Amino acid sequence: MGAIRRISSEERLTTSFVLSAYAFEASPSRRVDEFPRYLPYHEGNRTLIVEAEGETLAAATSIPMRQNLRGAVLPMAGVAGVATHPLARRQGHVRTLLHQLLDEVREEGHALTALYPFRPSFYARFGYVGLPKPRTVTFSPADLAPLLRAELPGEVGWERIGTGYPAWREFTERCLRERHGFAVFPDYRDVRLRDDDDRWLLTARVDGAVTGAVTYRIDDHGGELIADDLLFTDPYARSLLLQFFARHVDQVERVSVRLAADELPELWLTDLAVHVQALTARPGSSAPMGRLLTLDALSGLPAGPGRVRVELTDDRWLAGTHLLDGTTGSLELRGGTATATSTSVPAATLTAAGLSALAYGVLDPIEVQLRGLGQVPADAAAELRRIFPRQVPYLFADF
Ligand SMILES: CC(C)(COP(=O)(O)OP(=O)(O)OC[C@H]1O[C@@H](n2cnc3c(N)ncnc32)[C@H](O)[C@@H]1OP(=O)(O)O)[C@@H](O)C(=O)NCCC(=O)NCCS
Repeated sequence: MGAIRRISSEERLTTSFVLSAYAFEASPSRRVDEFPRYLPYHEGNRTLIVEAEGETLAAATSIPMRQNLRGAVLPMAGVAGVATHPLARRQGHVRTLLHQLLDEVREEGHALTALYPFRPSFYARFGYVGLPKPRTVTFSPADLAPLLRAELPGEVGWERIGTGYPAWREFTERCLRERHGFAVFPDYRDVRLRDDDDRWLLTARVDGAVTGAVTYRIDDHGGELIADDLLFTDPYARSLLLQFFARHVDQVERVSVRLAADELPELWLTDLAVHVQALTARPGSSAPMGRLLTLDALSGLPAGPGRVRVELTDDRWLAGTHLLDGTTGSLELRGGTATATSTSVPAATLTAAGLSALAYGVLDPIEVQLRGLGQVPADAAAELRRIFPRQVPYLFADF
């Protein structure tokens, strides 16, 4: 089977990087010489490998990130670089690795974990549940013409990300505090954006404070202005950013921008023709998944006035019977025998994925039942719906 161990930073060059290059890039790879350049961006990651007779058979990495869950910013383990040697696949290596990796990061205090799956059903067995994929909206800058004449409060800042990075990082930290689901990298990983310096940074500012930001690049004259995530705190900021794009009408044919799944760009302007797309396909184009690793993640979250008894089943990390009480507006959890025998409160049985779906706000309790993620009678569904109102998470970080 091979032995599992955590590798040091330098060892990545000859173990996990080699497997990842084969699994995720064009190959045979000529980029081996470039591997050392990437080491600093992996510095604080936890990478486990399976090894036999000096050969690396599989690897999996956790990035110590932070994520907003219904207003609380919590430590989140971003799982990445999951790869098995082509001759060692389908022998259970990744299953074993993932158990150990999640044991360790949970022990270390990560309340949440998220990843981009090669196949969602594989990770569903580990209790992960699907989160929405951001939309990509494409439009012609000509359709933004009405914005050219708009008087908007504030101004835009325009620079390379290499110089503007501190303002960008600070603004994403604000989004982390304010937006459900939003996740950011640790500093050592995030600075890769600054160091690569292959994006423009556009910011909306009011009295010097950043209220919106987007990074982008242009592929060619007459081509496309390809923006990453359009981040903004209000419609003024969004309009300032789009007004800037409108000035590219004689330069590019199209503008594309990534947006949170609950944005409705067709309502931004009259006569704005948009193409909105979210493609999920296996294995190349996945929507993210996430899960709770401990119930501590739920304690104190803002919650509606419901009370329900939840029995957690079929999971390595979440278990027991708990009373979830949102009547004070702040979620309280109680375990123990008294709770387990109390019959006056509606009761549901949930898998880890079922509870995670409710906490992340992505499924209705009835959908949890329909998807086989729990047994949720109507009275318990009503309570759970009050405690965990639906809310669209926006993961943002791509790893
Ligand atoms: C996808 C990948 C990571 C899977 O790794 P792996 O070590 O083969 O994974 P496991 O063996 O633990 O599990 C894979 C499957 O083999 C099955 N399996 C495990 N042990 C087995 C055994 N002894 N005999 C037969 N099948 C077995 C598992 O049950 C699982 O079945 P499923 O297809 O029904 O889900 C690997 O194929 C890979 O590196 N692919 C390319 C890169 C990639 O896509 N990475 C994922 C990014 S998130």
